[in-house]
Amino acid sequence: MANKPKLIVANWKMNLGHEISKFLANDIAAGLLDYSFNNLKIIICPSFISLQEVNEIFKKSKLDINIGAQDVFWEAPGAYTGEISPIFLKEIGCHYVIIGHSERRFYLHETNNMINQKIKSALAEEITPILCVGETQEERKEGTVDHLIIGQIKDALEGVVFSPNQKIIIAYEPNWIIGTGQTLSPEEVARIVRLIKKYFTDHYSSEFVENSLMVIYGGSINSRNIKSFVQQEVIDGFGVGGASLKADEFIKIIKSV
Ligand code: 13P
Repeated sequence: MANKPKLIVANWKMNLGHEISKFLANDIAAGLLDYSFNNLKIIICPSFISLQEVNEIFKKSKLDINIGAQDVFWEAPGAYTGEISPIFLKEIGCHYVIIGHSERRFYLHETNNMINQKIKSALAEEITPILCVGETQEERKEGTVDHLIIGQIKDALEGVVFSPNQKIIIAYEPNWIIGTGQTLSPEEVARIVRLIKKYFTDHYSSEFVENSLMVIYGGSINSRNIKSFVQQEVIDGFGVGGASLKADEFIKIIKSV
């Protein structure tokens, strides 16, 4: 476990148009050119329309930076206006997808059942889901956090049987922390990460937990607070929103991890 590479997932959300996305990708690539990050995996999630070109920019730079989508639909290609099939993602070299982000659960009323179908459809194409779980502020006050998070994971993975080449990333991202500048204490985040890992240890094989699972934390991570979270070895990586939108700030985060 200790030698697992750390992971950074940059979620650009719907913040950047296509031209700015390309600028940012080029700036990140330029800023990392002389930097070797052997034990670090980076996934950048631009909007759908920029996935392909951002991918090309990183490929040209020879940096080992992957792209991820911010959502996916569960049906096979067909008459589903506005939706994107995991088959299309795979075709353009996209091997990761964020599923069940709290913003989609809130604004688009995504249910655990929809999230479950998305997970299955992504896995069927060997696209690794980045499954977001986490509580609201009310749920934290009510003290139901542990139960709720495990329930979200159980529902999202209902009926899923992982084959050896399928992996999953769980992103613990409490929605009352996202974009607020507040953070949970690193100790509390580590406790939740341990809780999630214990759930997987109890229900899946040790090989799966060792080789196919990562548990990361996201919520107002920036270059100033990242170091205190990195000290918690159990956290496999970080989901970064706002602080991934400026190349120099994002590069500082990468270098701290
Ligand atoms: P912020 O870093 O802006 O809080 O967003 C985190 C997030 O939503 C990552 O998916």
